[in-house]
Amino acid sequence: MAHVPVSLGFSVTSYLSKSFRFSISKFKNATWTSLQRNYHQLQQKVEPLPRHSIEIRTMREEDISQLMNLRRQLGIHDATSSVQSWMAVDPEGIKVAVNENGDIVGSCSYVKNHPELYFAGIYCVQKEYRNYNVGIQIFNAAKENAKDKNIAANSVLSMAKKYQQSGDFPIIDEDLTTVKNYFPDPIHSEMLFNKDLPANIEIEPFQECLLPSIVQYDASVVGHTRELILRLSCHEEDSRTFAAFRNGVCIGFGSIKRSCLGAGRVGPLYAEDPVVAEALLKKLIESYPNRNGLAISTPSSNIPNNAILQKLGNAKTETCLRIYRKQKVNVNASKIYAYLDINFSAF
Ligand SMILES: CC(C)(COP(=O)(O)OP(=O)(O)OC[C@H]1O[C@@H](n2cnc3c(N)ncnc32)[C@H](O)[C@@H]1OP(=O)(O)O)[C@@H](O)C(=O)NCCC(=O)NCCS
Repeated sequence: MAHVPVSLGFSVTSYLSKSFRFSISKFKNATWTSLQRNYHQLQQKVEPLPRHSIEIRTMREEDISQLMNLRRQLGIHDATSSVQSWMAVDPEGIKVAVNENGDIVGSCSYVKNHPELYFAGIYCVQKEYRNYNVGIQIFNAAKENAKDKNIAANSVLSMAKKYQQSGDFPIIDEDLTTVKNYFPDPIHSEMLFNKDLPANIEIEPFQECLLPSIVQYDASVVGHTRELILRLSCHEEDSRTFAAFRNGVCIGFGSIKRSCLGAGRVGPLYAEDPVVAEALLKKLIESYPNRNGLAISTPSSNIPNNAILQKLGNAKTETCLRIYRKQKVNVNASKIYAYLDINFSAF
């Protein structure tokens, strides 16, 4: 994608209202001087406002560590391995904003979940670059990937109304609120279900031969088949996956991966009932001892899940609203105990 020149001072009014935001960094001082000069020139209606060049382009493999730094600064538990998997699923799906020094200062993704549904996420701009339209530019560039298809996203509370008013996401699904939970150590996994499961239920660590059963069970939960992302997800570096079987039929599965903040991030975790979900969660946590807390994002309407999570201790939580471009996508949230990835996947 070509360089998109981004005006860092799009009008006199906005310059005046935003002037207090300039920091004392070298970059900002240079901009400040330039804007002052141009403000006086603009009063005499002569010169255009100064422009800085921000490149907006498709993300590359070598950008991942910088992107994860940006996400870490925001305290978001993205998993590097998951970003790599979604890049493989939709190579054009993730866009980044790059400054003149080649540093990544923003990101936004619209990745294909299936041919009719895209999912928008990782929308952020580094603090020093906010309020200069970098966000809107990268958001619009990323959106092109979804063409005219339906789009789902999880919005932080402060942005949902803005997305609705802009017309990008007019639909807010009141029934699908997402809670991002973070449990600091110690995690009380010993409090989770520890009686023997019924004799006909077995929990097995992931191996390739289990994939067809996992893909089939997953499709029964999310409503469509998604073999590629599941194959990639189950093989991610530094991750563990377990699947539950009743009389040989898959009745649940889950994964734990490393977040960019060092936490064990659980997702997905889907199961037929709370007993199976709890047993899988316990397995996942205990298979992943060297971690900095536990991150798990869940639909708030899964009440039994809320009771399971309470056993782990006190979580730091943040709520997101589910928004859509065209129409809601229905799912049975009672089978979802953790989303696959709240930045790339609808469920
Ligand atoms: C949200 C964020 C990416 C916006 O980046 P930005 O470069 O500051 O945005 P812009 O300068 O292009 O936006 C100008 C205005 O439009 C709003 N805006 C940005 N993107 C928008 C969008 N896609 N739709 C509607 N409004 C939008 C901004 O909030 C801002 O509103 P304000 O003037 O009331 O403050 C940035 O604030 C950020 O990184 N926030 C923290 C991460 C976050 O909350 N991301 C959203 C997850 S849903």
